[in-house]
Amino acid sequence: MIAGDYARDGFVVVPDFLPPGACAALIERAEQIAGEQAPSGPRSVFSTAEQARRSDEWFLESGDQVRSFFETEALAEDGSLAVEPGRAINKIGHALHDLDPVFAAVSYDPRMLAIATAVGMQEPLAVQSMAIFKQPGIGGEVGCHQDATFLYTEPLTVTGFWIALEDATLDNGCLWALPGGHREPLRKRFARKAGGGTEFQLLDATPLPGQAQMVPLPVAAGTLVVLHGLLPHYSGANRSPRRRLAYSLHCIEAAALYPAWNWLRRGPALPLRRLADGPPGL
Ligand code: FE2
Repeated sequence: MIAGDYARDGFVVVPDFLPPGACAALIERAEQIAGEQAPSGPRSVFSTAEQARRSDEWFLESGDQVRSFFETEALAEDGSLAVEPGRAINKIGHALHDLDPVFAAVSYDPRMLAIATAVGMQEPLAVQSMAIFKQPGIGGEVGCHQDATFLYTEPLTVTGFWIALEDATLDNGCLWALPGGHREPLRKRFARKAGGGTEFQLLDATPLPGQAQMVPLPVAAGTLVVLHGLLPHYSGANRSPRRRLAYSLHCIEAAALYPAWNWLRRGPALPLRRLADGPPGL
């Protein structure tokens, strides 16, 4: 059923992937990291609306780090916090799965590899992870995109494993996706420029779908949603009083080419690992 749904829709929903206790442990750890970093870290904002312009050093060199990024509305014009620190962080990225034992345990759990295998992956490499808070009241929207735009391989192999750690609803910014949209071409790719900075490179001018064509995926805490790298998806802003924390892990095929111009890169001290390797010794 997993393979069939995924082939047809470009996504598959797996309820009860994580038990409540595991969700609670990940939530606690994410809050702990954000609590440590929010008061003192650089005030780097994550916004999909201005991604090329806003991609600063803190973001571009976070591929082998655990770093926090702020909600746009969490900062006042002078850069000071406009909300309490516990509600300020948009997300933590991008190597939680290799640097934090709590996130590593779930990322390299054999059940994750089993799901990746079920959707057709041969030798998945864990390339990127994020704890995405979608804070109450100010949680930023993530505009419609294809994940292969941001993690480009030849051939295209990126696959997303998105786990709701808290209930994701229509009110607090659940995922929306275009069923079957994974059969459409990749529209653009996000690349480092030779002289520094980043740019979007247009590959196909077919517009991404609007909300009217997409379906919402409200899911209970503990649900895993697997997303094909070409599937158009987005999540709305959270204007509700309820947070929507999720953990997202992205994998690519070990045999695929990962061009060095991808925004996400790692230093030699932290090579990419296969899901089959199991959790790193931390
Ligand atoms: Fe995505």
